[in-house]
Amino acid sequence: MDNIIFQEIKNVDCDLVEKIVKLEKRNLGKDASVNEWVIPVIIRYGKLIVAKRHKEPIKGERRISKGAIKKNDIEESITDKSDNTEIIGVCEIIKSLREENTAFIHSFYVERKYRNKGIGKKLMQNAIDALKDDNINIIELTVDPANSSAVHLYNKCGFKRVGLRKDEYGRGVDRDLMILKL
Ligand SMILES: CC(C)(COP(=O)(O)OP(=O)(O)OC[C@H]1O[C@@H](n2cnc3c(N)ncnc32)[C@H](O)[C@@H]1OP(=O)(O)O)[C@@H](O)C(=O)NCCC(=O)NCCS
Repeated sequence: MDNIIFQEIKNVDCDLVEKIVKLEKRNLGKDASVNEWVIPVIIRYGKLIVAKRHKEPIKGERRISKGAIKKNDIEESITDKSDNTEIIGVCEIIKSLREENTAFIHSFYVERKYRNKGIGKKLMQNAIDALKDDNINIIELTVDPANSSAVHLYNKCGFKRVGLRKDEYGRGVDRDLMILKL
């Protein structure tokens, strides 16, 4: 799919935070777990990587269709009132203080109408490359074992199921733990 860029969001901005909270509710439903108090924390202390779609090409802007996000590939045009982009995928990451060089993907989704077009895979690849740049060598995530599209995507990206976390997010809410060693 053309016109998609992947970038790390580095600045906290009300507009952007509201958009992401809305997106998360729309795409994760009852499993949405972030609000206006959490997104800024992830931006400042973790990593927030988004897939954005340019409705029309913007002259002179660098596209990243694959490969790593390098430190300077950051722009915040989403906060520009004349911005012509929409966020269509989000990956929220935090870093472990208990395990060395380990990161945890806290949320991952692609907007419904853009699913099954390879965007999830590219977004994950960009996240993996960005974490490699940060010397992370283990990436963990949890997934509902019944979420076959997510499990399939994570397997495709090299994650391996290493166990089950029972009642992880409440009684009866079990999650598969998956790990990618870089
Ligand atoms: C899971 C999710 C992120 C996948 O994103 P996506 O952009 O549709 O994924 P891609 O198009 O990159 O697909 C990657 C692979 O998964 C497969 N896939 C995608 N959707 C699928 C589905 N519904 N059923 C089976 N396989 C599916 C694709 O065919 C592709 O496999 P392939 O390379 O063998 O062809 C997306 O479905 C989503 O946002 N779901 C709702 C939120 C969610 O469940 N997030 C995960 C929480 S842990």
